[in-house]
Amino acid sequence: MTIQQVFVIGAGQMGGGIAQVCAQAGYQVTLHDLNEESYERGFQVITKNLTRNVEKGRMTEEEKQAVLGRFTKSLDLQNAKNADIVIEAAVENMEVKTSIFAELDKITPAHTILASNTSSLPITEIGAATKRPEKVIGMHFMNPVPVMQLVEIIRGLATDDEVYEAVEEMTKKLKKTPVEVNDYPGFVANRILMPMINEAIFTLYEGVATKEAIDDVMKMGMNHPMGPLQLADFIGLDTCLYIMETLYEGFGDSKYRPCPLLRKYVKAGWHGKKTGRGFYTY
Ligand code: CAA
Ligand code: NAD
Repeated sequence: MTIQQVFVIGAGQMGGGIAQVCAQAGYQVTLHDLNEESYERGFQVITKNLTRNVEKGRMTEEEKQAVLGRFTKSLDLQNAKNADIVIEAAVENMEVKTSIFAELDKITPAHTILASNTSSLPITEIGAATKRPEKVIGMHFMNPVPVMQLVEIIRGLATDDEVYEAVEEMTKKLKKTPVEVNDYPGFVANRILMPMINEAIFTLYEGVATKEAIDDVMKMGMNHPMGPLQLADFIGLDTCLYIMETLYEGFGDSKYRPCPLLRKYVKAGWHGKKTGRGFYTY
């Protein structure tokens, strides 16, 4: 399986980062979003990141231009028709993802691998929305993508070994480290991380300490680079809530109950850094 053409869905913080590292590794990248505004916002972040790389001496201006030259814009899913792999990074919502995958199954050639950057949703269920579950796989990058080393690779129940191997090889080409995990809600990363974040929100909700104090305890006491509330804002509170709901529903265990304060913030439209307000104001 030779991968040359990469089609990335969603130009948000994750899709933009994934597109950037793919283009930097030499792949031809089509970046797709729903509208011009979302695409441009994502593309500007990529351009800014590359400019910083030039300023820091990590790449030349010519290399930056070559990376940008590997991008094609897409506002129509039909453009996925030439893709060797699609990496979906739209919102963390099963209905949205299954409808995208069902469409992709019709649009893309039979050899195309369909990968999702989902944080927590079952890959097996996403695969079942297609007639090629053996080509569906989880490729879970961490935020911020250009900086973080890990990619969790998730095998659905039907994922082919050769699809796994192609994605593992691609991950290494992106200069990331693949770690293989099986398909259970939250996989490994968010099954462990998100209950900690949710507990930090409960700690705030119950008035145990201020948000700054909670973050300070975890930063200075546990050497975490960001406190859990700052990290929740960074990930996106909408995404955090979707992940907690997936864990709660998937395991049926009350220990995964999303904190009511998290729900309230999301309902208020306070989705964290990306909307200018979450636990902190940006
Ligand atoms: N995009 C690209 N590069 C970025 C960036 C971004 N959004 N944010 C920071 N960087 C780069 C900076 O440019 C800087 O590199 P240079 O100085 O060499 O140019 C480097 O990262 C360090 O940045 P800073 O000095 O500004 O700040 P920092 O030392 O505090 O590091 C951080 C920033 C790397 C984000 C660090 O705070 C950190 O590791 N935070 C925790 C991140 C984390 O836990 N991520 C996982 C989230 S969970 C997830 O992703 C899974 C999920 O499904 C929800
Ligand atoms: P985001 O809100 O920053 O970006 C989502 C983008 O997808 C937006 O630009 C939106 O316009 C676009 N979009 C929404 N529906 C679409 C559709 N039907 N077709 C095409 N584009 C569509 O979100 P994000 O933080 O980048 O998260 C994206 C995915 O990555 C989610 O599944 C999330 O769980 C996962 N993820 C997030 C993080 C994180 O830290 N934020 C980390 C790893 C994985």
